[in-house]
Amino acid sequence: MEIKSISIIVAMQQEANPIISALGLVYSGKISEQLPMLNYEGITNGVNVNLVTNGICPTYGIDLVASQPSILSTYVCVEKRKPSLIINAGTAGGFKKYGANIGDVYLGSPHVCFHDRRINLPGFSEYGMGFYTTYPCEVMAKKMALKTGVVSTGNSLDFSDDDKRVMDTYKGSVKDMEAAAVGWVANLLQIPFIAVKAITDIVDGSTPTKDEFLNNLELASENLAAQLAKIVCFLSTNDLH
Ligand code: ADE
Repeated sequence: MEIKSISIIVAMQQEANPIISALGLVYSGKISEQLPMLNYEGITNGVNVNLVTNGICPTYGIDLVASQPSILSTYVCVEKRKPSLIINAGTAGGFKKYGANIGDVYLGSPHVCFHDRRINLPGFSEYGMGFYTTYPCEVMAKKMALKTGVVSTGNSLDFSDDDKRVMDTYKGSVKDMEAAAVGWVANLLQIPFIAVKAITDIVDGSTPTKDEFLNNLELASENLAAQLAKIVCFLSTNDLH
């Protein structure tokens, strides 16, 4: 697959800033006049790259994290840019039972799921979890020494017993709030998709998630940016397989 253009969807501005610098992207305005999502663009290694942040909530004044804004960002971005590949980049929680460390960068593979859409009706359970496929990236992960795992998305930062029960059924090893939302749009529109997630907190550790997240957001975002620059470089010269 020849990759001519890449769209990167990022929820928080603080996660996006180091990526924007690392890829040399320039702010080009809102992705759509009526929406808060912001667009940055540039050419990296001959590939047209744009990055969309979900922007700031006009009501609550905070970054538009979680699934609904990410679906909107992704859809509008695809309509405007027609990318050959979509990347959802951001931070996430990892698990010590799967060997995660703060600052690790994971590629979502072989799919991304939802853990908080529990619909106990015939056929609807699977729909709820989603299992949106990611473009095969195991070779790239190996070459770049990145970890891989099932990224699991929910609309909460906390981790309930029900979240755990669902994630354990598919060995979800990375917990975030956006990947499956972006993955759903990408799968629906048949656009190759990868999720790149840097670990800010250890979900099954002893430190409260909020403290660990805030303490490690900067470090994880720097690692995320460094790896994304390498990923874009890799994609511009290699096939993903
Ligand atoms: N983003 C960063 N850490 C997270 C966690 N533990 N759960 C959901 N989203 C996250």
